[in-house]
Amino acid sequence: MHIGVIKEKCKFENRVAITPDIAKKYSQLNLNVLVEKNSGLEAGYSDEKYVTAGSKICETEEEVISQSDILVTVSTLPEIKSSYKIKSNLIIIGLLSPYENKKYIKSIAIKNINCIAMELMPRITRAQSMDALSSQSNLAGYRAVIDAAYLINKALPMMMTAAGTIIPAKILILGAGVAGLQAIATAKRLGGIVSAFDVRPEVEEQVKSLGAKFISVETSKESNVKEKSVYAKEMDDKYKLMQIKKIEDAAQESDIIISTALIPGKKSPLLIPYSTLEKMKTGSVIVDLAGVAGGNCEATKYGETYSYKGVLVSGPINLASMIASDSSALYAKNIFNLISLIINDENNINIDMNDEIIAKSILIKDGKLTNII
Ligand code: NAI
Repeated sequence: MHIGVIKEKCKFENRVAITPDIAKKYSQLNLNVLVEKNSGLEAGYSDEKYVTAGSKICETEEEVISQSDILVTVSTLPEIKSSYKIKSNLIIIGLLSPYENKKYIKSIAIKNINCIAMELMPRITRAQSMDALSSQSNLAGYRAVIDAAYLINKALPMMMTAAGTIIPAKILILGAGVAGLQAIATAKRLGGIVSAFDVRPEVEEQVKSLGAKFISVETSKESNVKEKSVYAKEMDDKYKLMQIKKIEDAAQESDIIISTALIPGKKSPLLIPYSTLEKMKTGSVIVDLAGVAGGNCEATKYGETYSYKGVLVSGPINLASMIASDSSALYAKNIFNLISLIINDENNINIDMNDEIIAKSILIKDGKLTNII
């Protein structure tokens, strides 16, 4: 059986879905690894490293696609041209953005393939080791703080020098989910004074355990979480107004804001309107991770960093990809763990639709669209 990895073709994508270390692990599962040449280059993994790990380097994407039983990708949608001879029951696995790419998913469903979207992995304990959104958001939260530290015109930690004392930077984190909690931890490590805001009262303990102050809207003690969900729900208008005021007060004091507030499937909540921005210190920095869904900051331009009336506003596109070596290592492990689940003890592929992990993430099964899409 063959597993193939193609070179990512998307702009801003430096990651690779199989690293040499994971290639070795596939060999132990009796899977032969095919690598399109230079697939790992941007992530720091040369073709030689793959060869040492026992993989075969292929000259073209077609060579990989046509020989693979399983094809893995990060965010590039593999182009299955009609001229390609693909194996029946090919499995494609990746961060396929199924809702944005509905047309593509439907177009490949006519072939006898299977397709799994890593971003639909349920957030349950058993799937934690396969949860690519979490592994990547964690690194993005870290990188957002590093970017902010690079953009700002002051030091983050307190420094006592003979020439005077530098006061530590005040850093506000909006949204204390996976990215937000890592942003808090990173900002603390860099010596900042950190506070964080989230609509879910239950994250207060986690925020405090990282040494940050928790900011909340008083009424948030009521449940702000969808029943049986780990995600926040959309708040009512009264709450939204109180929230904006709370954040405005904290923003005026802040040197850096990292915003990560997300409600899955919805436009990101607006937490920093122009009116707040106008009260912020000149030279302060906002790194808005929610740009892809509209942004938590009204001034965010996705993919741009610019000064809005003296406040630097950054809407990065793919932060995890900027630390491609580590993000690839974690992503490749997430995919490996999923593949280990679908390969049974006899080394056959078994896509078990009764398994919640599969049922929630499979877009195409045996050439038929599932009800997810
Ligand atoms: P998550 O679901 O773990 O965390 C989101 C948090 O936002 C939750 O704790 C939720 O309670 C909170 N939240 C929701 N509404 C809020 C509100 N009105 N006010 C305050 N908090 C609110 O999500 P994760 O994985 O941490 O991702 C966070 C965001 O970062 C997402 O928008 C994701 O798309 C984005 N992201 C962006 C990257 C980039 O390079 N631009 C890379 C990775 C993630």
